[in-house]
Amino acid sequence: MKHLIDIKDLSQETIKAIFLQASTLISPSKELAGKSVANLFFENSTRTLISFELAAKKLGADVINVNIDKSSTKKGETLRDTIQTLQAMGIDAFVVRHSDNKTCQTIKKWLNPKTKLINAGDGNNQHPTQALLDTYTILQHKQDITNIKISIIGDIKHSRVANSLIDCLNILGNNSIHVYAPEQLLPTRPNKLIICKDFQQAASDADVIVMLRIQKERIAKHAIPDLDNYHHNFGLTNDKLKLAKIDCIVMHPGPVNRGVEITSSIADGNQSVILEQVKNGVLVRQAVLAYMFK
Ligand code: CP
Repeated sequence: MKHLIDIKDLSQETIKAIFLQASTLISPSKELAGKSVANLFFENSTRTLISFELAAKKLGADVINVNIDKSSTKKGETLRDTIQTLQAMGIDAFVVRHSDNKTCQTIKKWLNPKTKLINAGDGNNQHPTQALLDTYTILQHKQDITNIKISIIGDIKHSRVANSLIDCLNILGNNSIHVYAPEQLLPTRPNKLIICKDFQQAASDADVIVMLRIQKERIAKHAIPDLDNYHHNFGLTNDKLKLAKIDCIVMHPGPVNRGVEITSSIADGNQSVILEQVKNGVLVRQAVLAYMFK
């Protein structure tokens, strides 16, 4: 695997090989000793940025977190010049987050043959390592991913997390993901999805519920004017969770807007695997980096 830009570029076999690698990692190790990894985050991040830094360091790499606000980007340097400047210094892998869809597809064209690229989230397009860590977490709780009911609820339209997770689950054989959202936040490409008419349809007998925040940075300011009303209709509350299977797990990629898409007692409750997702983020990103440099 040269780059990881879109989860759809991975085969079922590659995904399983990454998961196997994640489950057998020994830390610290030296797979990336002598390699340099640059994290270029043009959008904010806590989980993805820090877990990529930890993952690369656990593999023995030198890690540079480029401070975009203090970089020459602010003096007008183009993205191409920034990438090629860092590449000239000997960077072996770039991890890039950007607000524009397909940024990584463009960056790929500027790279030397040996330089690696990982998409850490581009616009509302893809977030492939999030899809891998989410799926890895589901598989730790559910034996068979193909025949379980997975419901994704919230702002699906603007969510690269939802796009990538749906693609990943499709690759692994689950082609009947349930989704529920306000009309204006439903996905624009509803292929292989079951669009639910109400919360009850989405939550009833669910094995996995994935809650998503409203991507305020990608939608018009007043698209969802009343957050209390949103919580009432689209937020996960204790009463609604009772509709799901007793062993249903509740997921959220974070950051969580408590009291909007999910009530605090569920986010912190015993069905929540939110912090397991975070923990698995380090492991899976470590596995992706190790797999790339094999
Ligand atoms: N899930 C996720 O991408 O979180 P961050 O924005 O904190 O990286």
